[in-house]
Amino acid sequence: MNKPNPFLDLARQQELYGHAARLAGRTSALMRAKTSGHPVPETIVSLVQTHHARPDRLGVVLDIGCGRGTSSLALAEQLRPQRVVGLDAAPSLLAQARERVTELPDTTVDFIEGDFHDLPLPAGSCDIAVAAFCLYHSPQPKDVIAQIARILAPGGLAVLVTKDLDSYQEMDRLVASAGLDPQADQHESLYTAAHSRNLADLAASSLDVIAVLDEEHSFTFDGHDHTAQYLATNPKYDLAPGLYGNPGALAATLHEFLPDQPLVTRSRITFVVAQPNEGRRP
Ligand SMILES: C[S@@+](CC[C@H](N)C(=O)[O-])C[C@H]1O[C@@H](n2cnc3c(N)ncnc32)[C@H](O)[C@@H]1O
Repeated sequence: MNKPNPFLDLARQQELYGHAARLAGRTSALMRAKTSGHPVPETIVSLVQTHHARPDRLGVVLDIGCGRGTSSLALAEQLRPQRVVGLDAAPSLLAQARERVTELPDTTVDFIEGDFHDLPLPAGSCDIAVAAFCLYHSPQPKDVIAQIARILAPGGLAVLVTKDLDSYQEMDRLVASAGLDPQADQHESLYTAAHSRNLADLAASSLDVIAVLDEEHSFTFDGHDHTAQYLATNPKYDLAPGLYGNPGALAATLHEFLPDQPLVTRSRITFVVAQPNEGRRP
């Protein structure tokens, strides 16, 4: 029997997002490896500035699945709306997001716990809703899009962001060839529920899509030690006990079975900008 996709398995999400330091380590390993591709928060800000009629007079900006708040803080600093609300299901990430807030004149920033299938905001209350790298954690991403359509004000915008199905496939090959998980390149993509090729269709289930942007991001990890810092918390692989969450042990195993080498990999990032369909409003 096929194992459930780890990104849709609630128990695995607790393991992935229950420790802010672990997620920060993984993200920082990926960012140090990046060789091309704009910072995602900057692209989100620029899409809002391009497509919203009054980006200089925004009310509420909602960052759904905000994690440690990186995009929320960029949205606050660069768009200066009245209020930014970051929403996430993981309390440990929200706690770290709150610690990262710096005071801004005229913009308040709040982080709240919630489930994106049932957004705790009134209908028509948000000018912008961002959902970056989180819709692939929903077994029913269209339900989340319907919630976004509900909370957007007339003239509001949604910016949805995801990765392509084959992102980082060179890592799968490395893990398989080192014998860490011989089936590594045959597992289902983590991004199956919401990926570059179905994101616009998902958005169109409740919104009008007005722009789609694809961007190639490239990464070079220096060698096994660097690669292991990202791989160690990747739930895609069936690693031997003691390797998951343990970059040192994972790096030692890679060194044992493969000569040290840089790992070059890539990911396509897709941004979909969509607006409420006025005709569908009740
Ligand atoms: C990969 S992180 C993305 C964080 C951030 N948006 C970014 O771009 O860096 C995915 C986030 O989605 C959150 N998430 C997963 N399921 C959720 C749900 N049902 N409701 C709200 N947030 C959820 C996780 O807790 C995690 O913080």
